[in-house]
Amino acid sequence: MSKEKIPHVALVGHMGSGKSTVGPLLGKLMKCNHVDLDVVIANQAGRSIGVIFEEKGEKAFRDFEELALKSKISNQEPLVISTGGGIVERTANRELLKEKSFVIWLRADTETLVKRVGNHPLRPLLKEKDPLEVFFELDKERAHLYQEIADLEIDTSNTEPSNVSEMLFDSLKSRLGLNHE
Ligand code: S3P
Repeated sequence: MSKEKIPHVALVGHMGSGKSTVGPLLGKLMKCNHVDLDVVIANQAGRSIGVIFEEKGEKAFRDFEELALKSKISNQEPLVISTGGGIVERTANRELLKEKSFVIWLRADTETLVKRVGNHPLRPLLKEKDPLEVFFELDKERAHLYQEIADLEIDTSNTEPSNVSEMLFDSLKSRLGLNHE
């Protein structure tokens, strides 16, 4: 699909980078629906992400995640899609995102990420671990993958979600030829 005709906008980045807060705000500005893949997965599985990890393991979660992405990205109407931080781990997901959406990489410095997510009990990857170490490792594994698929990147460290969404909307208007005046 040519980038001019892309219907979807996908937000990628680490846990705590702002994907789930910025997504709905951007959807509102773009006048299109927003979906959060973690919410889709939890609804479909009938259990929280934490429980899926506990009961079925990470591989099963990644399978759910891949299915949820495939299903939402084939939506005919444009969507803003907030992904989970690990969506880029599978090549198939990266290819799909790259082909079928305009990908925005939300970045933040590690200190900010740690402050935002702390020891969040709902995030299995952080459970009983030092968040600084987790983000250090995740950044090594994933930063280049986010970079590889990103059409646009923005640092959210010192910016309110509403301002991030407005900046993104401005940028999308010119880059995707959106007209919502
Ligand atoms: C994960 C990030 C989480 C969620 C799951 C795994 C990851 O989403 O998908 O806990 O692998 O980084 P958020 O990035 O929305 O926290």
